Parts: sequence; structure tokens; C-alpha cells
Amino acid sequence: MARSFQVSRRRFLGGSAAALGGLSTGLLGDVLQAQPKAPPRAMALAALKPSGALDEAYWWKVRGQFNVVDGLTFMNNGTYGPTPRVVLEALGKYERELAEDPTDNYRNDGRDEVRRKMAAFVGATADEIALTRSTSEGMNIFIRGLDWKAGDEVVYCTHEHGGGIQPLQQIEARYGVKLVKIEVPSPPESVEQIVKIYERAMTAKTRLIMVSHMTYVTGLLTPIKELAALAHSKGALISVDGAHPLGMLDLNLAATGIDHYAAAGQKWLLAGTGTGVCYVKRDVQDKIWPLMGYADLKTTNDPKAASYGARRYELGGQRNVPSFMAMAEAMEFHDAIGRNNVEARVRQLSTKLRAGLKGIPGVKMWTSEDPQFAAGLTLFSVHTIPMENVVKGIYDFNHVWIRTMATGNLNGVRAATHVYNTPDEVDRLLEAVTHVAKNASRYMSTTQAAR
Ligand SMILES: Cc1ncc(COP(=O)(O)O)c(C=O)c1O
Repeated sequence: MARSFQVSRRRFLGGSAAALGGLSTGLLGDVLQAQPKAPPRAMALAALKPSGALDEAYWWKVRGQFNVVDGLTFMNNGTYGPTPRVVLEALGKYERELAEDPTDNYRNDGRDEVRRKMAAFVGATADEIALTRSTSEGMNIFIRGLDWKAGDEVVYCTHEHGGGIQPLQQIEARYGVKLVKIEVPSPPESVEQIVKIYERAMTAKTRLIMVSHMTYVTGLLTPIKELAALAHSKGALISVDGAHPLGMLDLNLAATGIDHYAAAGQKWLLAGTGTGVCYVKRDVQDKIWPLMGYADLKTTNDPKAASYGARRYELGGQRNVPSFMAMAEAMEFHDAIGRNNVEARVRQLSTKLRAGLKGIPGVKMWTSEDPQFAAGLTLFSVHTIPMENVVKGIYDFNHVWIRTMATGNLNGVRAATHVYNTPDEVDRLLEAVTHVAKNASRYMSTTQAAR
């Protein structure tokens, strides 16, 4: 079977992928050869605005804005996404500006501009947005910012991420809060089934539902609007871990009724390291103590503090200004394509992937095929082959990079499909999975898979 590496059409569209610096040649040694050293410049975002049908030629133009090395099919931006050139250049520009003129080192006005952009991007108001360094920071801000007492209860499911669980464990140890863990089937049958599972776990003492908008395990898209209505009907709040949907789905947080949403910039938004956002609904802000801020009415007695809105949840000291500022360019990149177009493309690619996987004997799908329960993440197993061997087998066969998923004990591997991926790359993954499934005995043991 052909296993030659693809030559990117980017070469015909204004330059090849190139960002070699810092990559491990151990992993990608054979992919990296013969790639030019200087990355091509970013295309003006206006040139990315669709002017007609969003055909494959258009998506090649989008793909051409990434420096992912030729020959590597990268399908794990669920962990960390490659930054498009416009973001990479913006990061460099802001670093340079600070080096040349350090008089405005906090860039408060600039960050407020990013805050306003973020508010429009997620469907909120600017005073509900705190700019953070990660999803985990946002989860800590809300969960640890509440006043807790012994006996209070929190409901969450077995597929939550450590970023949301760790603050729960702290309030359990510190205040005697009871953590109630529930299980949601993979895949679920209906919205009603999911809501019922949460409802059954709630008591008069439940103060919070903590839930991922999209679980990092199976990629389950949860009905947060219905869960918000459930929480509020019982006098509880709802905190949402939104690490994945920011930059994947066209969000409108206000329309969901949730109290809190913490998201990552480095995953689907493609904004790079140390970026994130924490939404705290305006009318619950008086319940959430700032963990680190200086703009805190309760501790400073500053009469202006209420007007700081969610700014009060941000660290008051020096931050990584370039990372925060370049979130603007990441959002502009998405907006140039169109948030609805991004979501549609992500769904198109993942639907193609799931349809293909379904047809491969030996593949078990953990992600729902129903679009209301799934979007850009797909979790599957291949026979009972250990997940590490599946990942390695796929990479060795076709240089497609996906990841293992230990949480939930499903022995699954997870693929993410974003706008820089192509239908051809989905085919490459399917081809590699077919090969691993057909040669299962060879991949059953680690030693054999290493051959
Ligand atoms: C669902 C979920 N929540 C939280 C996190 C933690 O993200 P961050 O590194 O932005 O804190 C992740 C990271 O993979 C995740 O998948």
C-alpha cells in the first residue's frame, strides 16, 4: 500500500510549511527533510473572506496559512492547536513592541479591546469576560471563588477533565463539600436521558453542576442549556468546562443561560500558549470572590470595583501581554472564515471520519453519530488493541498524529478535525486505521507494534 508522504499544495499557493525550530527530529525526522527554513508570510485576512462557494480550493487557501510541516497530518488540536501565521506574526510583533517601547507594559487598553472582541465572539458582554491563561484557571476562578460550607454538594460526570475536577477536590478537602459523580452512557440516547441522570443525582443540598460542554473523552456535546434550566430550577448554579468548543462551535453563551464558562485559547481557537477565557454571568458575579485580583470590591472597598465586571477575576500583576493580545488575531482569523463556516467544516470532516470508521471491521465508535451530541472530536477503539499501539501504528503507517485517551477506561484513541485538515487527510487516517485493524495480531503487543 502506498505510504509516500503527501506534497502539500501550499507550495502552489504561496509557500510551503516550514516551522522547523523546536520540533523533535526524533519524532518527525523523516518528515522534516528538505523543508525551507524561513516561514512564508501570513496572507492578509481580507483575502480569506469567502467570496463564493467554500470548495476545496478555498480550504486549501486556509490550510496554506499554517506552518504544520509537510507530511505530518496533525489531528490533535484537542490538546494543542497549531497557530496560523497571522497569530504567529502578531506574537512576534507584540514582543518586539514591548522590547522597543516598554512604557506601556500592561497594555490595559489593548487587553480591553481583546475582551470586547472575545465578548462578541462568544455571545456575552465585555464585563462578563476575564482573559485567562487556560481553561483550568477559569475553572478554579469560579469553583474556588464561591463561598462553600460543609455538606454542600456538586454533581459532575466521570468524563470530566482534571482542570475542572482539581478545584472540586480542593473544596472537598477544604470545606467538606460532597462530590457526587455520575455516569453518562457513550453515546447517550437523548437529551432527556442525560438531563434525567443529572436530575436523579441532585438533592436539596446541590449547589453546583459542573459539566463539560464537550467532554474531552468521547467528544460528547452536552445539552448545557437544558442542564442550566435544571440547575436553576433547583436553586443551583452551573459551571461549564468549555475547553473545546471555543473556536470549534459558533457559540452564544448568553442564549444558554449558564452561569460560568471556562475555555482554552490554545486548542480550537488556535491562539497559542497561555491563553483562555472565563465567562462569569453578570448577575452571579457578586457570589464569586476573585482568587487573585486587585479589583475586588469585597477586599478593597473600592467603590469602582463593581464596574470592573469580570476584570476583577484576572491576575492584577504582569501577564504575558503578547499571548493575551494575539488572541485578537486568532479571533480575526476565525471571523475572516466565518464562525459558522468553521463549525460547518469541522462537522463536515468529522462526519466523514465517523462514516469511514463505521465501515472498518473491528472499529468500535464511542462518539455519537448524532450531530446534536458530537462535533470535532472522535473517539474509537480498534479491536482490543492497546490504544498506545493503535496511535503508534497509525503514525508509523501514514504519519497521522492522534492521541490515546485513558480516562473512562475505554481503550480509545481520539482524533480532532479542524479547518487546517483536509478530506484527503481524513482518508489517510482511515487508510491507516484499516491497516491496523486488518493486521490486529501484529499490533496486540507493544513489542510487536514497535517493529
Ligand atoms: C475538557 C478539558 N478541560 C480542561 C482542560 C485543561 O485545559 P487547559 O490546559 O486550557 O487548562 C482540557 C485539556 O485538554 C480539556 O480537554
